[in-house]
Amino acid sequence: TRTPVNVTVTGAAGQIGYALLFRIASGHLLGADVPVKLRLLEIPQAVKAAEGTAMELDDCAFPLLRGIEITDDAEVAFDGTNVALLVGARPRAKGMERGDLLEANGGIFKPQGKAINDRAADDVRVLVVGNPANTNALIAQAAAPDVPAERFTAMTRLDHNRAISQLAKKTGSAVSDIRKLTIWGNHSATQYPDIFHAEVAGKNAAETVSDEQWLADEFIPTVAKRGAAIIDARGASSAASAANAALDHVFTWVNGTPEGDWTSMGIPSDGSYGVPEGLISSFPVTCAGGAYEIVQGLEINDFSRGRIDSSVKELSEERDAVRGLGLL
Ligand code: NAI
Repeated sequence: TRTPVNVTVTGAAGQIGYALLFRIASGHLLGADVPVKLRLLEIPQAVKAAEGTAMELDDCAFPLLRGIEITDDAEVAFDGTNVALLVGARPRAKGMERGDLLEANGGIFKPQGKAINDRAADDVRVLVVGNPANTNALIAQAAAPDVPAERFTAMTRLDHNRAISQLAKKTGSAVSDIRKLTIWGNHSATQYPDIFHAEVAGKNAAETVSDEQWLADEFIPTVAKRGAAIIDARGASSAASAANAALDHVFTWVNGTPEGDWTSMGIPSDGSYGVPEGLISSFPVTCAGGAYEIVQGLEINDFSRGRIDSSVKELSEERDAVRGLGLL
């Protein structure tokens, strides 16, 4: 029998945590034949709530779940961890300046990065979900100089999945007919969902749609502002879909992208497509053998160029801001 994989989830008592943990324990993170041990990290005030969730996990009697440990100590939470899902973050309070938000999150992601550096397993893979996800990932990565930089990733898979769904609706096709969609840049309102290289049932998506006004005025804003639309409708932010995207992100990273398709991940730039090296930006990637690679050689038209550049500019500004705070 296989040794269990250690999976750490921070912010485990939050709403994404509640949507995420049961599916990790039932095999949706790594595969239906991979046993897991869960480590839940929470702040002291939320440890009791996490214990309640752990009681429910016990009550599911998941065959793949080989243990649950709950702690408020990052050093314990990341000890020997193979997959770290950094979900817990400091939300933007009313009237909070961006600098204050970045600083508050630095107080979370810097020590967690250090604990990953000192304690995690050699093959650790990190996914940052907590916002601002790209820059939080950069902060954690900077605090973990002994971990290969490419193991720190940020989640844009929810944006990717949202874009697939919108494009399928527009073209009257099934989501499974959509391939090669790309989210570029930051997980924020400046992100750029790109359909110029995407395919709908094997045909170029932009040509199939052939409606630049829909692209600019409907598709892109609908995808980029979907989070706000969910809050407006549900009275709470996306949780189940965010948890689902986190599972998709790690599953694809570990198990690979299907032939003839790619996915979107926030990853450290190697300078491809004019994105400054080191920024954690979303790219089209293929995954195989547990590693990812940026899809190369795509032609970027003027429409795309301007949008990629403005999202990347925002990422550069966030990096400058956290540098200024001494977090990098
Ligand atoms: P939530 O507020 O329900 O839960 C967050 C949890 O994190 C709370 O239980 C809190 O106690 C915990 N937490 C705070 N600081 C912590 C620390 N230092 N260590 C461990 N735990 C800590 O929030 P929710 O809805 O679960 O969302 C979590 C994050 O995910 C938010 O930052 C949200 O903006 C982000 N998000 C990102 C998405 C993406 O696509 N990248 C999509 C949706 C949400």
